[in-house]
Amino acid sequence: MSQLVQVEIAGNSSPAPNIYVLELFAPTLAEIAQPGQFLHIRCAQGIDPLLRRPISIHAVNRETGLVRIMFQVVGRGTEMLARRQDGLLDVLGPLGRGFTWGQDRQSRTNPIPAPVDGSTTNQGNIILVGGGIGAAPLFFLLQELAATQAAPRVKVLLGARSADQLLTVELAAALGFKVQIATDDGSAGFHGLVTDLLAEELRQKTEYVYACGPTPMLKAVCTLLSQAKVPGEVSLEERMACGVGACLSCVCRVREPGGEENHQRACVDGPVFSAAEVVW
Ligand SMILES: Cc1cc2nc3c(=O)[nH]c(=O)nc-3n(C[C@H](O)[C@H](O)[C@H](O)COP(=O)(O)OP(=O)(O)OC[C@H]3O[C@@H](n4cnc5c(N)ncnc54)[C@H](O)[C@@H]3O)c2cc1C
Ligand code: FES
Repeated sequence: MSQLVQVEIAGNSSPAPNIYVLELFAPTLAEIAQPGQFLHIRCAQGIDPLLRRPISIHAVNRETGLVRIMFQVVGRGTEMLARRQDGLLDVLGPLGRGFTWGQDRQSRTNPIPAPVDGSTTNQGNIILVGGGIGAAPLFFLLQELAATQAAPRVKVLLGARSADQLLTVELAAALGFKVQIATDDGSAGFHGLVTDLLAEELRQKTEYVYACGPTPMLKAVCTLLSQAKVPGEVSLEERMACGVGACLSCVCRVREPGGEENHQRACVDGPVFSAAEVVW
């Protein structure tokens, strides 16, 4: 159940150039938020810009009620948000359908990640692939996976243009996960694309893949998964206006199980979709 709330800004930090993390004191959101869901945020204190901006939930501490968002400054809204140091933030959320695990696509009661079709888990690796700012929502998923029996089978692949743009590497490692990194310019880790690392990993038994990042990366991930016949989920970043299913500005094409194409709204039917259903 989403809520329209005024939450207190408890901190603002910048872990990388042009990247900001806002810490929000939001106990009610922290209680119900799920990985892959997003907040629809009024970036300024007035009504300009009028439209809210969608930002994924990056981290949650249910005990302290703190929720973090991590974002890249790309335009006016995120620029205004980056300047906010304290006071109240007008937030609608948590919104959307996030990453799934467990036997039932809608259920998060089973803590073992499993294919969305409900088949028995095959005990292969569970791979998270993050490109650029796409690493942000995956970290919340890692927080949840860290407490499950599946944690030893989780591998994290993070990519960025260069070393200074790599995000959440230390955070993921601090949770105990094995992290591999790739940079386009070779300034850290593997010199190449994070999808090259995924292609290599898919040679081993893989149960499930979660991915978030730029559209070309997600497209490549879906192609690799289709070739390897491995199920997974991708988080799409469509342009959004209302965020609640009313304006159709976020419509994307999906393929139904029967093969026919259909349209779905990324804000309510996603932003996380099964890798097999997205039509690129
Ligand atoms: C479900 C969802 C979750 C998101 N989570 C995050 C997140 O965790 N961190 C983060 O940094 N960004 C995230 N985004 C992207 C973020 O919403 C946009 O960067 C933001 O709305 C841009 O607003 P602006 O006013 O700063 O820029 P604008 O002036 O509106 O646009 C500036 C530039 O940003 C691009 N842009 C605008 N909206 C989007 C969008 N939705 N997706 C991709 N590019 C966009 C435009 O094409 C343009 O080039 C998410 C988007 C969606 C849909
Ligand atoms: S943003 Fe309005 S329907 Fe999705």
